[in-house]
Amino acid sequence: MDHDAYRKQSIERWERAAAGWSAQRARWARDTAPVSFRMVELADPQPGHTIVELACGAADVGLLAAELVRPGGKAILTDGSEAMLELARTRAEELDLPDVELKPMDAEWIDLPAADADAILCRWGLMLLADPSASLRECRRVLRPGGRLVLAAWAPEAENPWTAIAQEEAARMLGLDAPPTSKPREPGMFAWRDPQTIIEALHDVGFVDPHVEQVDMTLRFDDLDDWWDTLLDMSPSLYEGVAKLTPEQRDDLRDAVDARAEAASTGGDRIELPARTHVAFAEA
Ligand SMILES: C[S@@+](CC[C@H](N)C(=O)[O-])C[C@H]1O[C@@H](n2cnc3c(N)ncnc32)[C@H](O)[C@@H]1O
Repeated sequence: MDHDAYRKQSIERWERAAAGWSAQRARWARDTAPVSFRMVELADPQPGHTIVELACGAADVGLLAAELVRPGGKAILTDGSEAMLELARTRAEELDLPDVELKPMDAEWIDLPAADADAILCRWGLMLLADPSASLRECRRVLRPGGRLVLAAWAPEAENPWTAIAQEEAARMLGLDAPPTSKPREPGMFAWRDPQTIIEALHDVGFVDPHVEQVDMTLRFDDLDDWWDTLLDMSPSLYEGVAKLTPEQRDDLRDAVDARAEAASTGGDRIELPARTHVAFAEA
């Protein structure tokens, strides 16, 4: 893999995806709240602490922590995409948290002083990086000794039908071996599906006592159209894959994914699909 080409393409994709993430922001914050709360609980922010969020998007996690480091503390919210960081800025204004710091920043090169942060949060970002170990080394440098990293990475596809159904069927329609989110040894949504991968990555850069646990969620949609539109809004790789299909192929894809989503839904008239994430934590 050409790491530099991947980095450039990835950030360009997130810049384009920001409008869709903006449209889905409230629903995403609501349905992923169990993960946000657990991550903040594990980070244990206290008044006066400095907390950093990497790859923050709308900063659902970092803005919760920002409330808890007041007074006297500092919340630094960072993302490699300026358009995604804009979502965090809007949300911080809505929550009347004018003192959070928003910094465009690549998670592989954390432009912050050494041994300064009490906690670093990163939800569903690290496994997307070209070189996650570079970012983890940077996290360890920026954390004070004993400071905590708390991260989330998606559990296996089978536990995440809310998106895996669409990724798998689209890949099949495009004639790919595996969805672009799932190729082994490449960055992607499911690259850290095996908890052992996370433990080893943390150990390898010197983090102490890493643990991984699971958090379950339910993602809720009005109907199948709402589910599909949400996925296209939020998944740059799915959006690009579907754009390559003919109108007939798109219809066939919708038939295939709708049947699977309906079968997997637990929501009666609505579409409710299970989701599971790993939440990992370790000390610097
Ligand atoms: C799946 S979204 C997660 C957003 C947010 N953390 C959440 O949980 O809702 C991935 C985020 O990672 C950011 N990102 C991707 N590559 C990055 C990089 N190299 N450095 C910093 N942020 C990056 C994207 O801009 C996007 O906001």
